[in-house]
Amino acid sequence: MLVNAKEMLDKAKAGHYAVGHFNINNLEWTKSILLTAEEEKSPVILGVSEGAGKYMAGFLVVAEMVKAMDKSLGITVPVALHLDHGTYDGCKKCVEAGFTSIMFDGSSLPIDENIEKTKELVELAHKMGMSIEAEVGAIGGEEDGVIGMGECADPDECKRIADLGIDFLAAGIGNIHGVYPENWKGLQFDVLAKIQEKVGAMPLVLHGGTGIPDDMIKKAIDLGVSKINVNTECQLVFAAATREYIEAGKDKAGKGFDPRKLLAPGAEAIKAKVKEKIELFGSNGKA
Ligand code: 13P
Repeated sequence: MLVNAKEMLDKAKAGHYAVGHFNINNLEWTKSILLTAEEEKSPVILGVSEGAGKYMAGFLVVAEMVKAMDKSLGITVPVALHLDHGTYDGCKKCVEAGFTSIMFDGSSLPIDENIEKTKELVELAHKMGMSIEAEVGAIGGEEDGVIGMGECADPDECKRIADLGIDFLAAGIGNIHGVYPENWKGLQFDVLAKIQEKVGAMPLVLHGGTGIPDDMIKKAIDLGVSKINVNTECQLVFAAATREYIEAGKDKAGKGFDPRKLLAPGAEAIKAKVKEKIELFGSNGKA
């Protein structure tokens, strides 16, 4: 069932677990994630970046595919279709296309402009029954000469954005997208605690879920993180499983070149990864 993400994240917050946001890239990705969420009886968020939306021929195609697949597969768990790191224009397109949730990423804008645009999109999203995530600009990071260590948001700016009536907030606590560098210092739990104190009951979002050690994930959930975004890790296991299939020469045996066979190990690898994350985040059995 397609729903917005507010209720599932408010419940996650109250229940001290997190809902997984898994990025989708194509039909196989979507099917693997939906089937696993159903098996795990877990709510789930399908994240779509603007690039992935374009790759899949547009947000309308994505929305129609997800709705039809949800129905055809008989999915009963709550599923949110969410724009990931949306621009102002991208958010408007997803509202029209029939997404159930959007993220406006104004983090690269000056805070006043981020606030102004977020406020406008909050009104639009809520009028349409959609949920909305916002992101606060980061401090530190590259400007401090520290590259790739992840940046931390300013708790006061977090409060200003949270007060606009958004449904959940992405705030940097040393997390980064992709694989973490060897010398990464880890999540900054003191910053997370300060942000949570400022924004009250607002569910917090942890981006860059790939490669964060399990104990840090658990501590982040304890401190108020209710949505965890995972993208690269599914891509890595998909690529590794596909490589193994081809390197074993399986595409050359019989009809092993059939895409339904060729893409099957990757799809199974995504299912296994999503199951592992859902159980780590504690959202299994919560649908
Ligand atoms: P990773 O690719 O590091 O898992 O990050 C995903 C993400 O945060 C999407 O918004």
